[in-house]
Amino acid sequence: MLVPFLFEEFRRFIRAWSLNQILRYNLFMDISTWKIRLNELPLGEIYLFQELGSTNQTAETLIEEGAPPFSLVLADKQTAGKGRHGRSWQTNPGTSLAFSWILYPEPGIITPEKLGMLSGLGALGVAETLIEVYQLAAEIKWPNDVLVEGKKVCGVLVEVHWSGNLLKDAVLGIGINVSRGSVPVNKDLHFPASSLEEVCGREISRLELLIQVMSSLLKWYPELQSGDFTAAWQEKLAYKGETVTLFTGDKIIDQGTMQGVSPEGSLILDSDSGEVRTYQTGEIRLRPVDRS
Ligand code: BTN
Repeated sequence: MLVPFLFEEFRRFIRAWSLNQILRYNLFMDISTWKIRLNELPLGEIYLFQELGSTNQTAETLIEEGAPPFSLVLADKQTAGKGRHGRSWQTNPGTSLAFSWILYPEPGIITPEKLGMLSGLGALGVAETLIEVYQLAAEIKWPNDVLVEGKKVCGVLVEVHWSGNLLKDAVLGIGINVSRGSVPVNKDLHFPASSLEEVCGREISRLELLIQVMSSLLKWYPELQSGDFTAAWQEKLAYKGETVTLFTGDKIIDQGTMQGVSPEGSLILDSDSGEVRTYQTGEIRLRPVDRS
């Protein structure tokens, strides 16, 4: 008696779960609602895709075709999403936010030494939203990962074109793990990861989240050179005052106490060698060290 009952309950659960997944997926297909809501923000063109290779890649093509400033490229699924350090970034349909924002910064604002500020902008926009709107204790793992409860929920990839030392255009690519299905299986992870729904314990509307993140990005973008921007980034830094190790590739290049972030977006490290050193983003990876 009990076995058929449990079997029927299990089937009911699976049916309800799949229906939920289908409904959630179809929500994104209501492209006109997304467009109407996003058009309320002072953005350029809005390009929405059910599926593409990488939103950063498509944004670059759109730049070549003359996309206006502040245009947004968003996809429900990426088949060739790009991560930092040449890694790939998985985006499963109905589970994540994957988008790229097209920027043409005023000449001189972003120099090669200050490129890290754009990554910081992306991380700050997401972290601030998670803290203020979703009441999560979000932190920024320098330069640009967003962590909640020590696990990564968002990554940022900035890609730019230079003409000499002058920045021609920038693509600010952001990937956010929203539901559980967005988190890659363990073997594909380089750092522990989670999703917002897992840490919030409730369902999150991807459209509302995107609107809030874009509002925060639009607020901070004109402030890149201000002390307020650095202070806001610094305030949310993970591992401040703690020991961290810096790597390029698999090679340890320094270890010391994390002091903070400079106005140019560089990491300030009180190195175990006795010197205070600054590091620009580039190829550097950071890991916390447990000295206890
Ligand atoms: C990282 O942490 O390695 C950065 C991940 C960045 C992923 C986003 S998803 C949207 C945009 N398009 C891409 O191909 N990558 C970025």
